[in-house]
Amino acid sequence: MKVLVATDKPFAKVAVDGIRAEVEGAGFELALLEKYTEKQQLLDAVVDADAIIIRSDIIDAEVIAAAKQLKIVVRAGAGYDNVDLEAATAAGVCVMNTPGQNSNAVAELVMALMIYAVRNFFDGTSGTELKGKKLGIHAYGNVGRNVARIAKGFGMEIYAYDAFCRDEDIKADNVIPTCSAKTLYQTCDIISLHIPATAETKKSINKELLSLLPKGALLVNSARKEVIDEEELFQFMEEHQDFKYVTDIMASNHDKMKEAFPKRYFSTPKKMGAQTAEANINAGIAAAKQIVDFLKNGNETFRVNK
Ligand code: 3PG
Repeated sequence: MKVLVATDKPFAKVAVDGIRAEVEGAGFELALLEKYTEKQQLLDAVVDADAIIIRSDIIDAEVIAAAKQLKIVVRAGAGYDNVDLEAATAAGVCVMNTPGQNSNAVAELVMALMIYAVRNFFDGTSGTELKGKKLGIHAYGNVGRNVARIAKGFGMEIYAYDAFCRDEDIKADNVIPTCSAKTLYQTCDIISLHIPATAETKKSINKELLSLLPKGALLVNSARKEVIDEEELFQFMEEHQDFKYVTDIMASNHDKMKEAFPKRYFSTPKKMGAQTAEANINAGIAAAKQIVDFLKNGNETFRVNK
């Protein structure tokens, strides 16, 4: 059995060593495809793979069709919007993620982005503090919970909205649940996005919602750029000189945004929320273990397709 690690953005070496130990320890072979630049390299690499570990790498119908022996794809991370689930299901391929394994890393980067923004991108001018500010966590999953935990240490007042999370569970963390996204945006100075990119959420962060924010608000995106209506965000930023947007996922109109709002828009050059040795080890080794358990014992825990 061959397990392919296909990562355009490679894991730290220590994580690859750990993945190798799991895979080879189970008697399987490990193949590595890192930093590939052409899709063809991926298509060639998957031909004889029984299992694939990926990150944000695109596994579309063409890749699945090329992977004739493929039985399982594990997205070492949370969001699996980069995998064509329908094509996988039709080909009898199991798709899994590794929820929670990289969430602390992403949450720590959220705090870094927040501080960078409220301190005016470290330009030497007087900024503001996080203490006492109202933080709105939009979707209270693994990353959102970690952001809440850390933000408490900064003395922030924390609110959350999650359509799928019970109020009791939010309150149990000393976080204030709001009944709608609208209320969250009306209430909070800083919003941190943690919604997945789905048919329902795509472009859902629009002008109508942003208009509810108080003056001087900040939007932090460590989720997906697809959830933003980028055209409307641009218009909103033109009309609201006090609003800032910082993101770990470069906007599609990045150059235009950077030029128009150099003091109010910032993006990391490459998504790096989950780029820590710890997160790479946690997510990468969890993915390897899930593959071994699936191939040896048929364990389908963490399966995300039917
Ligand atoms: C995730 O969905 O787990 C994060 O967005 C991290 O993605 P990455 O593995 O591509 O860094």
